[in-house]
Amino acid sequence: GAAGAEPEAKRRLLVIAHRGASGYAPENTMAAFDLAAAMGADYLELDVQMTRDGQPVVIHDATLERTTNGSGAVKGYTLAQLQRLDAGSWFGSKYKGERVPSLKEVLDRYYGRIGLFVEIKSPELYPGIEASVARLLAQYGGAGTPSFRPVILQSFSAESVEKLRELMPDFPLGVLVVARSDLTDRKLRRFEQFAGYINMKQSLAGEETIRRIHDRGMKVFAWTVRGARRAELLRLKGVDGIVTNFPDEVMCRVTG
Ligand code: G3P
Ligand code: CA
Repeated sequence: GAAGAEPEAKRRLLVIAHRGASGYAPENTMAAFDLAAAMGADYLELDVQMTRDGQPVVIHDATLERTTNGSGAVKGYTLAQLQRLDAGSWFGSKYKGERVPSLKEVLDRYYGRIGLFVEIKSPELYPGIEASVARLLAQYGGAGTPSFRPVILQSFSAESVEKLRELMPDFPLGVLVVARSDLTDRKLRRFEQFAGYINMKQSLAGEETIRRIHDRGMKVFAWTVRGARRAELLRLKGVDGIVTNFPDEVMCRVTG
């Protein structure tokens, strides 16, 4: 396939900051996103859940305990109520006052300035989340160009990605894969119907697997990667982008 046949020297590894520069600042906050942008990351990875009043919000867990001073389910709160919570202090007192961002706030701040790799989390908890996200994104722009996709949407739920494809025929979409059983030819044949990216746990990223995905015209990302050597190893195997909590560690990439 085209992606697999690219000359070695030309292939550059995309650096995707996992929940922002979450090794250094509280995940999924503007502090972590600003830091990742300052470090030169290509994309910010972020997780989306939905509030009681149907607003997509940026938080990894479906519950508030781990990353805020609140408790209970994200979907039990309106956006206004959620934004009164402190989403920074758990990580360090200097981050007191960080809030749970809405997806709209993140788009307003970063759209077009840095790539956004947006994960639809727990779609089974939020009927209609795909339509809400699609409606919001329609206000910003389309697929972008082959060399810069301003937003890529992804989910562990292939069903959710399929729904997104129906709503957004040309939009860049990815499937998250955690098990080798999701990388059979049969599964890949299904995924290529609606996805352009396979984002896999890095231990699954073998050369042959990567080649099979490239041959179907999809790109390969791998998570969660630490350190320049590991990143370079994955690049040499053919990986197109890596998801990392420490973007600064991998910014000195070898480009051939
Ligand atoms: O993008 C990869 C990664 O974000 C998937 O796992 O739990 O960090 O959302 P998780
Ligand atoms: Ca994620």
